[in-house]
Amino acid sequence: MNGHVNGGPPAAGMAPSRGVPAAGGALAKGGGVDKAADFANYFCTYAFLYHQKEMLSDRVRMDAYYRSIFRNAKHFLGKTVLDVGTGSGILAIWAAQAGARKVYAVEATVMARHARSLIAGNNVDHIVEVIEGAIEDITIPEKVDIIISEWMGYFLVRESMFDSVIYARDKWLKPTGIMYPSHARMWVAPMRTSLVEHKQQEFQHSMADWGCFLQDTSDHYNVDMSCLSNPYKEEQTKYFLQGSPTDPADHEVELTTAPSTDETTHWGQQVFLLHPPLNLQDGDILSCSLDITRSRDNHRLMDVKFVHQLERASGEKTPLITSPYFIE
Ligand SMILES: C[S@@+](CC[C@H](N)C(=O)[O-])C[C@H]1O[C@@H](n2cnc3c(N)ncnc32)[C@H](O)[C@@H]1O
Repeated sequence: MNGHVNGGPPAAGMAPSRGVPAAGGALAKGGGVDKAADFANYFCTYAFLYHQKEMLSDRVRMDAYYRSIFRNAKHFLGKTVLDVGTGSGILAIWAAQAGARKVYAVEATVMARHARSLIAGNNVDHIVEVIEGAIEDITIPEKVDIIISEWMGYFLVRESMFDSVIYARDKWLKPTGIMYPSHARMWVAPMRTSLVEHKQQEFQHSMADWGCFLQDTSDHYNVDMSCLSNPYKEEQTKYFLQGSPTDPADHEVELTTAPSTDETTHWGQQVFLLHPPLNLQDGDILSCSLDITRSRDNHRLMDVKFVHQLERASGEKTPLITSPYFIE
C-alpha cells in the first residue's frame, strides 16, 4: 500500500487491527448495514485509548501526516477542515496549528470525549469543534475546503472506512476542495517464505487431531461424528490453506503491501500464500490480478480472488489459476 498523504483534488472512484474482528457480520437481513452490530463489531475497538495509542505510536504513519500538513500549511491557512474519524483528535490539532480557521472533528465513538480534552489541553479548542457521531449521521454548518482522514485499513480497504470518507466528500467538500490523502495505490510483489510448509503442517495436525476426536467421542459417548468430517475439513482448509487452487500449481507467491526492513508500520503486509509454492527461474514472467469484493457477511471485510499465470522463459505458459482469499 502506498498512500499519498499530500493533498490533492478529490479522488474519484479511487480503488483505495485495526477495527474489524473477523467474526460477526454487520449486514442486516435485507442486505443493508445493521448499525447496532456494526457499532458493536467495528467502532467499539476505536473507543479505547490503548488502540488509539497503537496508531499514534506508528512513526511512519505519524510522520507522513505531520509532514503533509505542515509542509503544505498554505493549504490550511484560513481554511475550513473536516477530519473524518478524528479518534484522539491528532489530525484536527495539527490542522489547527497549521492555521486552519475552523476544524470540524467528527468521531463516531466516545473517543470524541478524549479528543475534546486533548484539543482543549493543546489550546486549539477555539478552532476545533468535536462532533460525536458517525459522519453519515451528523451535520455541520458549512461545506469545507479540506477533508482529512486516516481511513486506511489492513490491505488498504479492509474496514471500508473509505466509504465514509467518500460520503463526506460528496456531502461536505466544496467543489474546489482538497482531500488529504488524495491517492492510494496497492502494490503486489512475489516473495519466498516457509509459511506455506508451516500452514500445511498445522493443517495436517488439525486433521489428525480430528481423527482422534472422532474415535474418543465414539468410544466414550457413543456418538459417531464422522458425518461432520467434510465440513470440518473445509473449515480447516479455509483457515490454514486458503488460496489453494482447484488446479494447483507448484510454486509459491506472496503479495505484500509495503515491505521494509527498518520502517515497519502497524498495518504490516497482506500475504497471499499459494499451495503449492511457485518455483520461479530467471526470465520467467509472473502475471497476476486481484479481484476484490466485499464479504457477503460483513461489509467491512473483503473477499479476494487472486489470479495468476506463469510464462516460462521457454515460452511455455501455465493455465490461469484462480485462488480465493478472505481478508478477515
Ligand atoms: C484509523 S482511526 C484514525 C484516528 C485519527 N484520525 C488518527 O489519525 O490517529 C479511524 C477513526 O475513525 C473513526 N471512524 C470510522 N468510521 C467513522 C465514521 N463513519 N464516522 C465517524 N468516525 C468514524 C473510528 O472510530 C476511529 O476512531
